[in-house]
Amino acid sequence: MKYPTLAACFLLLATAGCSRYPGEPKPGVEVPRPESVTSFNTLYNQNCAGCHGDQGQSGVSLDLANPVYQAWADDASLKNIIANGEPGTQMSAFAQSAGGFLTDAQVDILVKGMRSKWGKPNLLNGQTPPPYTTTLKGDAARGQQVYQTACARCHQKPSEDIANPTYLALASDRMLRTLIVAGRPDIGQPDWRGDMPGRALTDQEVTDVVAWLASKRIATPGQPYPHPQ
Ligand code: HEC
Ligand code: HEC
Repeated sequence: MKYPTLAACFLLLATAGCSRYPGEPKPGVEVPRPESVTSFNTLYNQNCAGCHGDQGQSGVSLDLANPVYQAWADDASLKNIIANGEPGTQMSAFAQSAGGFLTDAQVDILVKGMRSKWGKPNLLNGQTPPPYTTTLKGDAARGQQVYQTACARCHQKPSEDIANPTYLALASDRMLRTLIVAGRPDIGQPDWRGDMPGRALTDQEVTDVVAWLASKRIATPGQPYPHPQ
């Protein structure tokens, strides 16, 4: 008879303390399904660190560990950018709803984690930076004036020339606004309070200087290439 033999077998296994089938993985060694990962560190390291840096800074892209940035950018904007990306830039869409791999819950974990790891409560102490997204219209001619007063003294060397079309080909208007308002303490770029002698930049000034920089983009950055004679 088959069944009693099998039952005896199981009984033997159970009494021997051997409750696992041969080959069955030990608890904890299974690779979790991607959508069940809930650790900020794992999500960040696997999806973001390559461009935004191991600790959220000194990466090839923006400095997310900047506390001023964390105090400035609102949750809805962050979630939207992580979920849907920035079209036309290296920042791709990460939400499943937009063709990526992350669930909405994981996008939330990333935003909350950045806040708690890299944010500082009450950092701005009632100071109001120009808004994350402006409703104003930029004026390139005024922006050039702003640049002369607020930026030129620190951006003189060719390697620091941000009005160069080759640099601007890589920097979207969104990214420029972020760099100007939130700064990049990891490389020495001041936030909106550090450019103008004696006062902070206004929303209009930031918007104008971005408009001026945008007007310097060209269709074929980096060209014409020098021709060997
Ligand atoms: C392939 C490189 C790359 C990866 C990977 C990447 N990013 Fe980005 N990210 C960028 C670039 C480039 C920008 C700037 C886009 C622009 O020009 O506006 C950016 C912008 C952002 C911004 C908006 C910054 C602003 O201006 O307010 C946030 C927030 C952000 N990334 C978070 C993340 C998170 C979180 C992840 C991981 C889920 C991630 N990024 C993965 C390249 C990347
Ligand atoms: C007190 C000096 C100082 C002032 C003022 C300043 N910057 Fe900078 N900025 C820096 C330094 C230092 C860096 C990092 C080195 C570099 O890339 O040139 C930087 C970097 C940048 C970058 C990022 C370049 C990159 O690597 O992605 C941008 C964009 C920028 N500055 C724009 C501006 C604009 C626009 C203004 C005026 C509103 C301004 N800066 C005013 C010092 C300054």
